[in-house]
Amino acid sequence: MINLLFVCLGNICRSPAAEAIMTRIIQEESQSKGSNLMINLDSAGTSSFHCGQLPDARMRQALSSLGYTHFSRSRPVETSDFVDFDLILAMDRSNFENLRQLCPNPKFLTKIKMMCSYCTQFDTEQVPDPYYGGEDGFKHVIHLLEDACRGLWVEIKDSVV
Ligand code: 4NP
Repeated sequence: MINLLFVCLGNICRSPAAEAIMTRIIQEESQSKGSNLMINLDSAGTSSFHCGQLPDARMRQALSSLGYTHFSRSRPVETSDFVDFDLILAMDRSNFENLRQLCPNPKFLTKIKMMCSYCTQFDTEQVPDPYYGGEDGFKHVIHLLEDACRGLWVEIKDSVV
């Protein structure tokens, strides 16, 4: 079992979108190619401002329009996450630095990675925060995350065969 945790600030825009996108990739790969890789997914926020909430309505709308159906509720990052998850994927540099501060033991620091380091199409370091922007920003985040999730999937698949 491989355990992946996607992390952003509020856990209502970028990281639940990454969770929804990765959920579909895993479903599609298992249906079409018979992949039986066991991957456990979750997402969390470095803040607890939106704890218990579904993703932002604008992100739900953008995801739904592209056929994504998995919506999780916001929760804050917990100390136990650094033990329970194999990879902790930060959406931007601020999330990355906050995760390093929250990490309870230096031996877990290597679990923290930048999500965009798995992109193969987009050349960018961070997933921009769409919260204060317009509708286009949400679609852009989804396309960026589709690229990163696909790259992450390939890397995981190649590492276990
Ligand atoms: P997220 O976006 O980190 O991608 O979930 C945000 C959500 C809420 C806020 C900022 C970013 N906020 O300031 O409440």
